Amino acid sequence: MVIQLPLLMKDHVAGKRSPVTCALKCANACLGETCNSSSNSYFRDVASAALSRRAMLGGTAAGALAIAVAGTAGAPSADAAPVGPLADAGKGPKAPNGSPLRFDAIDPVDYTVDEFTVPEGFEWHPIIKWGDKLFSDAPDFDWGAQTGEAQKRQFGYNNDYTEIQEIPDSDGLRAVMFVNHEYTNENIMLPEDTDAETVAEVGLNAHGLTVVELQREDHDSPYEYVVDAELNRRFLADTKYAFTGPARFSDLLKTKDFPRGNATRGTFGNCSGGLTPWGTQLSGEENFNGYFRTAGDTDEDKRYGMSAKATARGWENVDPRFDTTNDGYENSAHHFGWIVEVDPWDPESTPRKHTAMGRFKHEGANVIIAEDGHAVAYMGDDEKFDYLYKFVSAKKYKEGNRKHNMTLLEEGDLYVAKFEGNSGTINGSGAVPKDGSFDGTGRWIPLIVDGKSEVEGMDVDEVLVKTRLAADKVGPTKMDRCEDVEPSLKSRKVYVACTNNDGRGTEGKAGPDEVNPRTVNRDGHVVEIDELGTQSGTSFAWNVLLVCGDPAQNTSTYFSGFPKKKVSPISCPDNLAFDSVGNLWISTDGAPSTIGFNDGLFRVTLEGNQRGKVEQFASVPVDAETCGPIVRDQDRTAFVSVQHPGEDGTFDEQVSYWPEFEGTGPKPTVVQILPARTEFSDVKKGSEHYDAIQWAALKGIIPGRADDTFAPRKKVTRAALAAFLYRAAGKPEVRLPRNEPFRDVEQGETNNYRAIIWAKQEGIVGGYSDGTFRPTQAVSRQESAAYLYRYAGSPSAPKPTKAPFGDVPASSTFARQIAWLKKEGVVSGSTFRPTEALTREWAAEFLHGLIAEQKVAFKG
Ligand code: FEO
Ligand code: CA
Ligand code: CA
Repeated sequence: MVIQLPLLMKDHVAGKRSPVTCALKCANACLGETCNSSSNSYFRDVASAALSRRAMLGGTAAGALAIAVAGTAGAPSADAAPVGPLADAGKGPKAPNGSPLRFDAIDPVDYTVDEFTVPEGFEWHPIIKWGDKLFSDAPDFDWGAQTGEAQKRQFGYNNDYTEIQEIPDSDGLRAVMFVNHEYTNENIMLPEDTDAETVAEVGLNAHGLTVVELQREDHDSPYEYVVDAELNRRFLADTKYAFTGPARFSDLLKTKDFPRGNATRGTFGNCSGGLTPWGTQLSGEENFNGYFRTAGDTDEDKRYGMSAKATARGWENVDPRFDTTNDGYENSAHHFGWIVEVDPWDPESTPRKHTAMGRFKHEGANVIIAEDGHAVAYMGDDEKFDYLYKFVSAKKYKEGNRKHNMTLLEEGDLYVAKFEGNSGTINGSGAVPKDGSFDGTGRWIPLIVDGKSEVEGMDVDEVLVKTRLAADKVGPTKMDRCEDVEPSLKSRKVYVACTNNDGRGTEGKAGPDEVNPRTVNRDGHVVEIDELGTQSGTSFAWNVLLVCGDPAQNTSTYFSGFPKKKVSPISCPDNLAFDSVGNLWISTDGAPSTIGFNDGLFRVTLEGNQRGKVEQFASVPVDAETCGPIVRDQDRTAFVSVQHPGEDGTFDEQVSYWPEFEGTGPKPTVVQILPARTEFSDVKKGSEHYDAIQWAALKGIIPGRADDTFAPRKKVTRAALAAFLYRAAGKPEVRLPRNEPFRDVEQGETNNYRAIIWAKQEGIVGGYSDGTFRPTQAVSRQESAAYLYRYAGSPSAPKPTKAPFGDVPASSTFARQIAWLKKEGVVSGSTFRPTEALTREWAAEFLHGLIAEQKVAFKG
């Protein structure tokens, strides 16, 4: 049978969003009626955009979908404390040591470009791609001939949330990676004439989760995944998941297959996730509604976006549980929409779904240990006008007691957020209110406290299974699609990515408010929450960190006051991460259809006078979204999951060939970004100036030599330093003089003539009283400080009253310039060695320290 996938819906797309994304990922959430039609703030707009969808697959018998049994021996014991980045999170507000990743922001990349783009000096490597086999007994991936059996033992499709934890005692060379697979796009995965049973089996088995081990040769080399590693595991549609918490055994969870209501099979629509302080992985079941056909007539069905129409994949024709009108399966959709917890360290473990954390379209969950020891999880319900939630564990975290900590998410209090602005009416233009910011206070409204329902007329299990309906009754704030909600371990502040909401303020819908301040919020925003009292408490302060968009196209953007001209354009914030020094990293999903650029990964500075500065670090290929960011600046590396590249193609007419470019089609892939390696035989990896030399050489500021050496200890001449600065300034145009300014500098005779003339004209270099420049004379370290200072435009810097270094007295001619270098963080230590010759490695270090982080630009 011919597959008729939702390319038929091209005309029905919302905005410029891919119709395929709408249909397959979110079950056309944007097109249908708004799910939150509760009288909580506004009246339902009866939309007529419902589409007539066809059954995509014929009614074939259910395929046998066995659980893949992964390797078993020798895995770390379940009680071993893993060495993840959050391994010591319970000790308080502490982040791992590191230093900021240094890079020059890339320019935004047009949405038609089918490339992965990284900053100068970096390169990217695919770690694992759709169809890569996890076990040696699996078949190699075969384009156009994929089977359900092969897919069970291969990496799944559409990798979304991604986390990497180092394996203990491996010196950082081995790691375990957890990835979830959000959805499938059979249009581009399989030829049109694939039989329906194969389509369903491939689709089912390409969903779920993957745990896979990684290894690398050294900290400068990319990771590779390990076939047949002990922890490798696929979680498939038939994998058993245990329910925990108060709704376990509830009548609302009983089905023909699980008559006790204590377990289920499979996980679908997994979006983001989180790493717990005890080393397990969380994953959010988001658009699960798209997998179920229901009667479609109850309040609950409507509130969760379920309908009587055939689903896009037609699995209801393959397995009766996907149709809740089937006898004995009335509650089968209640088995999805949860937070899933997986122990990647134990391949035999049963994954769990935590009912205590509520059931909605879970984006993900991120846990922090409150000052009072309770585990606190922040969770977004990713749908227009839905809510932000918080879970507080009943029990306290016990350092080192993993078995106990693994139970923390099974029992606790559940809250939903109410935000109150302090600036009166917000007009929706995005204009900042008179008090200077979108801000205010808020409350966590209880749904469940001490095991009791706080919602009138609803029992505990009803509140947990029908959480959206329960929340509607207590009046929380309708948000612009909360995606990742992530606390910073450094500041303990919590960041909420509100990806967009084009319905905000439209007819019949909730209008703008101070925390969702823009009418028709096309580009999204980011909210910063600061809990008042302890993290587990019920009141908070908040402000809007970013109102996203491209400032060049849109006047309603806001970057916490940072100059708009100096930020990378950013739209549709989705997933969040932090680096070791507390900067926020944001990956986006939707920029092609809003600002016309490919999605990407961005760094946002949170503290100091650079707060609000957005710098783009990576850009993903055509049609792809950027997911699962991980930043490990200690190793100068970052990871992203590239989801749905080339989504708008068909099998025969693909629009992306990334990452293989072999003329077949695109593959969702987990990518590592790391510094490009130029190999100089005389510069050891990891040596003191390695980073700076790599940067300077790759930028062409201080090129290496033809024999693959860098000559790091070679003295730098005055002419050479002028040349380095000239290149660092981007080789500006030079007006050649009629009369030579120096008697020993001559066109055609002197190396770096143009650079010297430029430096002289810009006042960076001077000559001697005898009219010479002495281009071949070595430059001293103190003179180089003066060159750099003048290159930066001689910024106002006080003459120091104290010696900046032990060997640089305050009275030194160069004290001001050297103190300035120190203040900029370019040099530290007790001595400066001012009269020693500047070496090439130190020239690289100085320039890198000043320029790579854009602290200083040439001020001509
Ligand atoms: Fe799957 Fe909320 O993005
Ligand atoms: Ca305000
Ligand atoms: Ca997401």
